[in-house]
Amino acid sequence: MPLVTDRYRSLGVSWIDTMPLRKGELMERGVDVIDLGAGDADLDPPPQAVARLREAAGIPALGRYGFGMGHRPFREAAVRFMEERFGERFDPITETIPLIGSKEGLSLLALAYLSKGDAVIVPEPGFVSYIGGARLSEGDPFFVPLRPEKDFLLDVDEIPPEVADRARLMYLNYPNNPTAATAPLEYLERVVAWCHDHDVLLAYDNAYSELAFDGYVPPSIFQVAGAREIAVEFHTLSKTYNMTGWRLAWANGAPEFIEVLAKVKTFVDMGQMMAVQAAGVAALDARHDFIPKNLAVFRERRDAAVEAWRAAGFHVDVPKATMYVWIRLPGGVDDIEFTMRLMNEAGVIVIPGQGLGPSCAGYFRIALTTRAERIVEGAERAGQVLAKMLAAPVA
Ligand SMILES: Cc1ncc(COP(=O)(O)O)c(C=O)c1O
Repeated sequence: MPLVTDRYRSLGVSWIDTMPLRKGELMERGVDVIDLGAGDADLDPPPQAVARLREAAGIPALGRYGFGMGHRPFREAAVRFMEERFGERFDPITETIPLIGSKEGLSLLALAYLSKGDAVIVPEPGFVSYIGGARLSEGDPFFVPLRPEKDFLLDVDEIPPEVADRARLMYLNYPNNPTAATAPLEYLERVVAWCHDHDVLLAYDNAYSELAFDGYVPPSIFQVAGAREIAVEFHTLSKTYNMTGWRLAWANGAPEFIEVLAKVKTFVDMGQMMAVQAAGVAALDARHDFIPKNLAVFRERRDAAVEAWRAAGFHVDVPKATMYVWIRLPGGVDDIEFTMRLMNEAGVIVIPGQGLGPSCAGYFRIALTTRAERIVEGAERAGQVLAKMLAAPVA
């Protein structure tokens, strides 16, 4: 039997990717499942994108290999967005790269910047592709816990000098999945300064930049002076436009970094289908019409979720951004046990904190991916499971 590598073995288990299997098993048993697990909303993409995909799929040239260049208008639409939204200009060719979802770009970047044993700073909890990138590159991930008492902001002062000296890459994501934390510009300035001081490349994951509420407007890392010298920023159409399965994203950064990422991709993939990129242009160009309506739906779901999960006995802060609510369990209830019982006894799928990192014990995440009534019903079912667990005698 051929053996797998140690780096493969070091990957561990991704909860989010195993949840669909468990959901399938429950549904086969006839359970009425409320799925608040993966961040994959039940909402429609912009109709303009769907129409353009239909049309583009019939154009043979858009079905050929895109290679690294892909569909140039997609690059141009991405830089139009970056300039209009953040006031930051990028060259569509040398400072922009289309991605097959940001997940691949985030992990492939590590292959170019980490040698065996190099330290990579990873927030904990953190998205699975940071860990994938770190481990598959045989880097040495240094996990920095996102602590509630620090507003879930990764504190660079927690990185020991010995780790800082051998760090080459840092992943950072605000608005944050799963905590829904947001990062003030002054905080991002401190991180950029730290990266400069230690010559560390910052992979800034801005997947939720357009999913914010109550007047909050998330920044780009490039709004921090000096960020271009040390950062690459990732954007995706997955969340903003409900286009998760379309696999379309891009990264911006200085030509030196984008060229490196492009080269790794040259050896790994052929780029996203150009017809999909053409549809991505339609989505980006529909943003002024589409995003406010989409946000109104998420806001309604968020408000319903906060009220219902609080009423069911959980500790809930009001998220200012993202499609997640990061919820604390009362009474020292274990999040893995709670999650498993909630799924098996009540058919509600959530993600346990410890599934995202050991320091997240006592928390779980719900995603606002289904109708408000179902999120409320999920809370009611969860409240019953919680009550049973709180009433059980301590072992
Ligand atoms: C923080 C974060 N980054 C990146 C992604 C991946 O997005 P994409 O669909 O573009 O690969 C997700 C998806 O859940 C995410 O939560």
